[in-house]
Amino acid sequence: MRSHSSPPSTVRRKIGGLFAALTVGVLGSTAVLVAPLTSHAAESTLGKAAAQSGRYFGTAIASGRLNDSTYTTIANREFNSVTAENEMKIDATEPQQGQFNFTAADRVYNWAVQNGKQVRGHTLAWHSQQPGWMQNLSGSALRQAMNNHINGVMAHYKGKITQWDVVNEAFVDGTSGARRDSNLQRTGNDWIEVAFRTARAADPAAKLCYNDYNVENWTWAKTQAMYAMVRDFKQRGVPIDCVGFQSHFNNDSPYNSNFRTTLQNFAALGVDVAITELDIQGASGTTYANVTNDCLAVPRCLGITVWGVRDTDSWRAEHTPLLFNGDGSKKPAYTSVLNALNAGSTTPTPTPTPTPSPGAGQIKGVASGRCLDVPNSSTTDGTQLQLWDCNSRTNQQWTLTVAGELRVYGDKCLDAAGTGNGAKVQIYSCWGGDNQKWRLNSDGSIVGVQSGLCLDAAANGTANGTLIQLYSCWNGSNQHWTRT
Ligand code: XIL
Repeated sequence: MRSHSSPPSTVRRKIGGLFAALTVGVLGSTAVLVAPLTSHAAESTLGKAAAQSGRYFGTAIASGRLNDSTYTTIANREFNSVTAENEMKIDATEPQQGQFNFTAADRVYNWAVQNGKQVRGHTLAWHSQQPGWMQNLSGSALRQAMNNHINGVMAHYKGKITQWDVVNEAFVDGTSGARRDSNLQRTGNDWIEVAFRTARAADPAAKLCYNDYNVENWTWAKTQAMYAMVRDFKQRGVPIDCVGFQSHFNNDSPYNSNFRTTLQNFAALGVDVAITELDIQGASGTTYANVTNDCLAVPRCLGITVWGVRDTDSWRAEHTPLLFNGDGSKKPAYTSVLNALNAGSTTPTPTPTPTPSPGAGQIKGVASGRCLDVPNSSTTDGTQLQLWDCNSRTNQQWTLTVAGELRVYGDKCLDAAGTGNGAKVQIYSCWGGDNQKWRLNSDGSIVGVQSGLCLDAAANGTANGTLIQLYSCWNGSNQHWTRT
């Protein structure tokens, strides 16, 4: 718990802004400055209590229960964010290929917005709850169907969903840290980043999340694998904004106090984090409070969603894992969570959307060990790039922008002078064209968006002065680059 004599800087700033005129120079002590915090009346619902620190407290909603007034009364009173428990999944929204059906999804969506709640979208690409037609697809037909599905669902809700779980549960349980085998995975390892790129284009306003379970314990291989993927995505400019931790805690996958470390480490990569499907076998009040405090401790933790309202609504009803009894009464864990929220203070930092670009760095040829270099530090448009010994000068410092440009000197772009094999790659004033946009792939290739050709050290050269061109991608090490 944070001491009241040392509020976090965000709170200090906020209070400073509100009360500076009254207090500065009059009563100027820190103790007086934080007084408004301690005098804040405790809120009496989960949603309002979470909102004190700028967060939400949400629940999964099942459309089939919306005519149960005990259910809707609690849900409407306590929660300010909603996730459709099943209604926005692939089998529900595209039961026949190319024929979208949003009847049940809209029932949940409309109930949520009519009652003033935000909506998390769940989920666009997943190995489970696929309709039969999709289960039978593979290869490029499945890849296309995945993209088409993302486009169809996101278009329907464009601008209306705060966070989308773009990809769900892509890693396997256990100690391997491997991807889960699935029809989607078999379309190629890049299926996840393709899903995120498609999603960004479909609804640029939504935060795009990767969501998984058994990734809360920092020491687990699955957590580390997810971390490596998110770090890689951020480094290569794949658009990802948030990571969802399902947090289905039970005897096989118990809560561990290192969950806070996990949330902090992911946040440090430059993504928001969220607790997306919380339930705890036995509903220990202490564990519920610990999870709540873990989120409150991390400024980029956006909020908490529990996976259902009453124990009897839970997908794991036998675990009695939720905050309300079957009769609608509050469980002890409810009070633990509410008290933790009322005591919490840090304000979450909003994510800049889309993904902020990673900082400047060198681009080093794998074959040559030499860097992408502007000859003689020229700033003249049309100067062709070369390989040169890596050094610390600005003519080797490249910044990947959100748009996919590689900028040097701030306003010059890596620019393809043509679209065919051998086209010169030069610097040119940035103007937003596709010949100045590049895709950094996980295999180290850098592909021109306009041409589809690879950034290539000419004639397989490795020496200082080797010119840089476009060439058909052939997986050669003269086409592989690392960013340092
Ligand atoms: C569950 C639902 O709660 C059940 O009603 C359904 O039968 C199966 O799916 N991870 C997820 C959720 O991402 O979508 C799952 O929801 C629970 C595990």
